[in-house]
Amino acid sequence: MRFAIAGGTGMTGTHVEAVARGRGHEVVLLSRGGGVDLVSGAGLDGRLDGVDTVIDVSNITTPKPEVSVSFFAGATTHLLAAERAAGVSHHLALTIVNADAAPDGYYAGKLAQERLIAEGDVPWTIQRTTQFHEYAAMMYHRTHAGAHVAPTGRVQPVSLHEVATLLVDLAEGEPVGRATDFGGPREESLADIVRRYARAIGHHGPLPAIDMPGTLGRAFRSGALLPGPEARLGTQTFTQWLDALPDA
Ligand SMILES: NC(=O)c1ccc[n+]([C@@H]2O[C@H](COP(=O)([O-])OP(=O)(O)OC[C@H]3O[C@@H](n4cnc5c(N)ncnc54)[C@H](OP(=O)(O)O)[C@@H]3O)[C@@H](O)[C@H]2O)c1
Repeated sequence: MRFAIAGGTGMTGTHVEAVARGRGHEVVLLSRGGGVDLVSGAGLDGRLDGVDTVIDVSNITTPKPEVSVSFFAGATTHLLAAERAAGVSHHLALTIVNADAAPDGYYAGKLAQERLIAEGDVPWTIQRTTQFHEYAAMMYHRTHAGAHVAPTGRVQPVSLHEVATLLVDLAEGEPVGRATDFGGPREESLADIVRRYARAIGHHGPLPAIDMPGTLGRAFRSGALLPGPEARLGTQTFTQWLDALPDA
């Protein structure tokens, strides 16, 4: 089959590309580095010719709802229009388990993305997953006032490779609408996994716990972002991921 991966050069996109090529699929990568701006639509013409499924794992990193909505709504609108024009029969997007619990920051964009897809006329699949194991690294490297900190919260982190494999499974199949949520095998403390990641990469010194402000911080602390009992769970634990880190 032929897949277009929006955001194919990013952290998730790189894994999705590897899994798809490993199964013998043709892959088209859509990113600014490759001449496509999803937010303006520039460079999309002709890029979806012959594509069976568009897998959208594009991203912007921002805590601001207006920036997030502008990115995800713009990218989704242009992708869906280009898919209609090219006769693409399946739009697949990756979003976040229980994003509705913190709808006023970055997740506002993810919810806008989901609404546009569900209201659009391209047959679709939305896969929500929990935070990746790599989220511990992202939180460690996001410093506050120049210092590393360990945000508090409850997470159930999942393997990015397992997410990429699931996305390719879905891209090969018929659109299913909202797919069953997918999460990691066990709940972890966010502060604990950030500290364990920090130690694994040689961080010395204190790593104070902080409560992230706002709705997102409260959602993490209350457990509202954990997968529900109906979710499918992956197998790789955070410990296994950490043990396999090349620089650990
Ligand atoms: N991190 C998590 O724990 C987690 C959990 C669940 C779901 N997700 C979802 O996973 C998805 C992928 O996240 P990620 O962290 O893997 O992304 P990422 O590493 O930040 O990669 C973003 C990708 O989007 C492309 N991109 C950004 N702006 C673009 C634009 N204007 N036009 C075209 N391409 C653009 C980037 O390429 P260029 O810079 O070259 O344009 C890059 O390929 C996101 O939708 C996120 O919500 C993440």
